[in-house]
Amino acid sequence: AAESPVIVSREGRVGRIRLNRPKALNALDAATMEAVVAAAVAFDADPEVGAILLLGSEKAFAAGADIKEMKDKDGSEMYAADWFRRWEDLTRLRIPIVACVQGYALGGGCELAMMADVLVAGRSAKFGQPEITLGVLPGMGGSQRLTKSVGKAKAMDMVLTGRMVEAEEAERMGLVSRLVADEDAVATAEEVAATIAGFSKPAAMMNKEAVLNAFETPLTQGLVFERRVFHGLFSSADQAEGMAAFAEKRPAEWTHR
Ligand code: HXC
Repeated sequence: AAESPVIVSREGRVGRIRLNRPKALNALDAATMEAVVAAAVAFDADPEVGAILLLGSEKAFAAGADIKEMKDKDGSEMYAADWFRRWEDLTRLRIPIVACVQGYALGGGCELAMMADVLVAGRSAKFGQPEITLGVLPGMGGSQRLTKSVGKAKAMDMVLTGRMVEAEEAERMGLVSRLVADEDAVATAEEVAATIAGFSKPAAMMNKEAVLNAFETPLTQGLVFERRVFHGLFSSADQAEGMAAFAEKRPAEWTHR
C-alpha cells in the first residue's frame, strides 16, 4: 500500500496533522487534500480535541499544489471536479488551527498556511505565490487571503513577480504570527496549540469565528455580531466557571459546555 500522505495523531487535546510526502516536498495532490481535510473535519467534531496543529517537514511545509497532477488537465476537467473546492471545508471549521511553517510554503502551501488561524514560522520559512511562473494564478485563496492579510502592495509584489519572501519579511508584513528559531518552531507551535486547546472549546471557537467575521462584514455589523456572541457565551457553563475561578483565585476547570 502507498504510504499515507498525512500522519494524523493526537496529543492531549491537540489534534496533529503532519504532511508526509517528503519526496515531493509535501506537494498537495488530491489525495493529500482529502486526507488533511478529512482529519481536520473529524478533529473539529471531536469534543476531546480543542485545537489542530498542522505541520510539514523541516525542508518544506508544502511546495504547492501538485503540479504534475494538474499539468495535463483541461479547463472543463478542472471545472467539473471543482478543483481545490474541498479546501473550503477546512476554512469552514470552527476549531482553531495552528500551522508550523519551516522551509518552503509556496503556492498552495502558502495558501494552506494562510487557512490556519495562527501561523508559527521558523527562520528558514519561505513564502511565495509562484503561480504566475506556471502561467496561472493562486487557486486556493492566495489572491484573496494574502491581500486581506498583507494588503495590496505586498500581495501584488508577491503574485505578480512570484518571488519568495523570507520569514523575517513575512513576519514584518503581517503574514506570520510568531517568528522563532528553526529549532524552536515545532515546540512553539505545539505550545500555542496546547494553550488554545487548554481553554474552553466553545469560547475558542467563538473567538475564532468573531475574528474571521471581521473579514466578511463592515465594522458596525461586526461589532454587533461580536456583542451578540459575547452575550450568548453567558449561557455557557464555562463562562460561569471561568469567572468564578478568577474570583476564587483558582484555575478554571473547563467542561467545554
Ligand atoms: C509537484 C513538486 C512540487 C510541486 C516540488 N516537487 N514541488 N512536485 N508539485 N508543487 C517535486 C519536484 O518535482 C521534485 O521531484 C521534488 O519535489 C524535489 O523538488 P526539487 O525541485 O528537486 O527541490 P529543490 O531543487 O530543493 O527546489 C525546491 C523548490 C522547487 C524551489 C520548492 O521544487 C519548486 O520550485 N517547486 C515548485 C514550487 C511552485 O511552483 N509551487 C506552486 C505550485 S502551483 P523529482 O521527482 O524531480 O525528485 C500551486 C497552486 C496552483 O500551488 C493553483 C492554480 C491551479
